[in-house]
Amino acid sequence: MLNVVVCVSGGGTNLQAILDAVRDGKITNTKIIGVVSNNPTAKALERAEKAGVPGICMSPKEYPDRAAFNHAFTEKMKEWNPDLIVLAGFLVKIPEEMTSAFSGRIINIHPSLIPSFCGVGFYGLKVHEEALRRGVKVTGATVHFVNDGMDEGPIIAQKAVLVQDNDTPEVLQRRVMEQAEWLLLPQAIDDIANDRIEIVNGQVRRK
Ligand code: GRF
Repeated sequence: MLNVVVCVSGGGTNLQAILDAVRDGKITNTKIIGVVSNNPTAKALERAEKAGVPGICMSPKEYPDRAAFNHAFTEKMKEWNPDLIVLAGFLVKIPEEMTSAFSGRIINIHPSLIPSFCGVGFYGLKVHEEALRRGVKVTGATVHFVNDGMDEGPIIAQKAVLVQDNDTPEVLQRRVMEQAEWLLLPQAIDDIANDRIEIVNGQVRRK
């Protein structure tokens, strides 16, 4: 059984896709043991509660400095001791003490085809605003392992989504969620839970 903790910050639509996939048997051999949000008003926490999953809020604002938050966040994760940590719209940088303690056990969903439109400052709507400003005809989403960099870990899966004329950032974000994120993330968790992928020479391979 793969024990999973999901980290969220906002609406929780990616969390909902995971919860629904576990409920419907599209993700097997997996238990979502907890949800943590840095935002106390995140709708994602309501989604966790409705699904009967323990949810907590841990915000950097509650700590004297970022180092204190980073340590408390890592210690809490060690207490839960999940097999996999899933960042689903989580807007806080994962500290080095957590990436080293959970090396190879943290994944993230990013709303672009990495290495486009990623890295510092590229999150949420900003990603789609930049894609539209650049005029790309295809965008999409990427699931990747998390290392110390920002959106730099080994890529697990990607899915392309067409950009349409007159797209607004909000319309494009929703299409990328519906056509890519909400499919890629549950599939990646199911692949990990059923030992279908491995990292070879820094690249993800199907076994
Ligand atoms: C979305 O833009 C998603 O692409 C990114 O985080 C944002 C919020 O997602 N990963 P969610 O609805 O909170 O899952």
